[in-house]
Amino acid sequence: MKITNKIIIAIDGFSSTGKSTLAKKIAQKLGYIYVDTGAMYRAVSLYAMENGFIDDETFLKKDLISKLADIDLKFRYNDELGYAEIYLNGKNVEHKIRTLEVSNRVSKVAAISEVREKLVEQQQKMGLEKGIVMDGRDIGTVVFPKAELKIFMLAEADKRASRRHKEMTDDGKNISYESVLKNVTVRDLMDTTRKDSPLIKADDAITIDNSDLNVDETFDKVYKLVVQKIKD
Ligand code: DC
Repeated sequence: MKITNKIIIAIDGFSSTGKSTLAKKIAQKLGYIYVDTGAMYRAVSLYAMENGFIDDETFLKKDLISKLADIDLKFRYNDELGYAEIYLNGKNVEHKIRTLEVSNRVSKVAAISEVREKLVEQQQKMGLEKGIVMDGRDIGTVVFPKAELKIFMLAEADKRASRRHKEMTDDGKNISYESVLKNVTVRDLMDTTRKDSPLIKADDAITIDNSDLNVDETFDKVYKLVVQKIKD
């Protein structure tokens, strides 16, 4: 298919619903740019951890806010992987941001309006020329409220936790299923109830529940919608 009409595809939804996997596949198929906005919130969280602003007991919000200007986030395309990896102040942190430690702190960092303001501005710039697939929590509602196609992903919590647990153990991480399930459900609650840009379905988003769909089935379903939108 020859694609001339470039659109913005916004994929939002709950943790571990396979948003990134889906978004990457769509971007590869269309030759679009893929942006994982969760990676940006995770990288800011990693910065906060490395600088002693957040641990199990304390969160020095004001100190983090005062250092936001020092945080430089960039995506660089990795030819071998076929997608872009995230760099925090010049260092590739793609692996470091995927630990359960970061996952357990990221929702607190993502609730700070000053953090969101900085990242949303950067995300909107990346979409200026369209031809982009972006996944996150507020893409269809805040970042690109006029996106041509909006997908809202959900799946049962135990299925999401099993998938994420498998991914992490396959990656060599020694982690219990229960701790992954707890992280997924706590994050859902924090992400849906925060004041600034909570995770909610945009009115014009199409819901995809992939509790009983595998990666290819999910892709096929969404890709049909993409093709339709590009033709429109
Ligand atoms: O997509 P992810 O699970 O890697 O995202 C990590 C966290 O970042 C998620 O729990 C909430 C936050 N996030 C957000 O608030 N807004 C986004 N657009 C993307 C992620």
